[in-house]
Amino acid sequence: MTETNWQQLQTDVVALLKEARRQVLAKMHQTLTVDEKTSRKDLVTNVDKGNEQFLIGGIRQLDPQAQILGEEGFGDQLTSMAGRVWIVDPIDGTMNFVKQRDNFAMMIGIYQDGVGQLGFIYDVMNDVVYAGGPVVGGVWANDQPLPAPANLALADGLIGMSAPLVIHDVAHTQAIVHASAGMRIYGSAGIEMISIMRGKTLGYISHLKPWDFAAGQVLLNTLGIRTSTIDGQPLNMLSSNLVLVATEQAQRDILQIEEDDVSL
Ligand code: IPD
Ligand code: CA
Ligand code: CA
Repeated sequence: MTETNWQQLQTDVVALLKEARRQVLAKMHQTLTVDEKTSRKDLVTNVDKGNEQFLIGGIRQLDPQAQILGEEGFGDQLTSMAGRVWIVDPIDGTMNFVKQRDNFAMMIGIYQDGVGQLGFIYDVMNDVVYAGGPVVGGVWANDQPLPAPANLALADGLIGMSAPLVIHDVAHTQAIVHASAGMRIYGSAGIEMISIMRGKTLGYISHLKPWDFAAGQVLLNTLGIRTSTIDGQPLNMLSSNLVLVATEQAQRDILQIEEDDVSL
């Protein structure tokens, strides 16, 4: 097997995403076909499906041997993370896409034997691609290198949350919000992760599938931000997880809240 030129691969994936954006913008103002998946709050559109097919077609050309996990099912049936695996979310924040035509992202994560190599989150409406990973030594917002966010304690920053978790107080999320400086809810895991990379929020808690966190995990870890389950364990790349993303200090503070409350 020839050695991967990661820098070139990053350039090629960004070009693929830019073309995908052109197509999505062209379709966005036409009538959307919107279907419910598991509930009226879990939507999929013709644009999600078409974009996944387009991205997977492009990935197959770039990396013919790879396995691809796509949210809408146009990729492979994955049973392990062995070898090279691409994980694709064609539109993250579909509810925002349908209701706002804003605040949604395209996401791609590339893993080798379960280890994150490159991540891509495209903030479509602001036209900023966040790309990078350990194999290229950093993360860029378009052409600008991103600095590592400050290692804030929970009390000193804002935290992103998924609304249902807080409404139902799952995993002590109300106590966590209370201990933070405040809560923000963007409605897209990708936009939440961008906010953390930019240092605008210090963390995020949500129930997520692999395609919701695969890209962000690579980018955030490269910037020194932790990703784990809510009890501090590594994320399972093949199933749903209750995901905790946080600065090192805030992760410690949150795990302490979990521990204190469990022992009551
Ligand atoms: C969803 C969004 C949302 C998160 C959900 C995800 P989708 O992704 O990221 O913010 O709370 O858990 O499923 O379905 O719009 O790609
Ligand atoms: Ca998603
Ligand atoms: Ca999606």
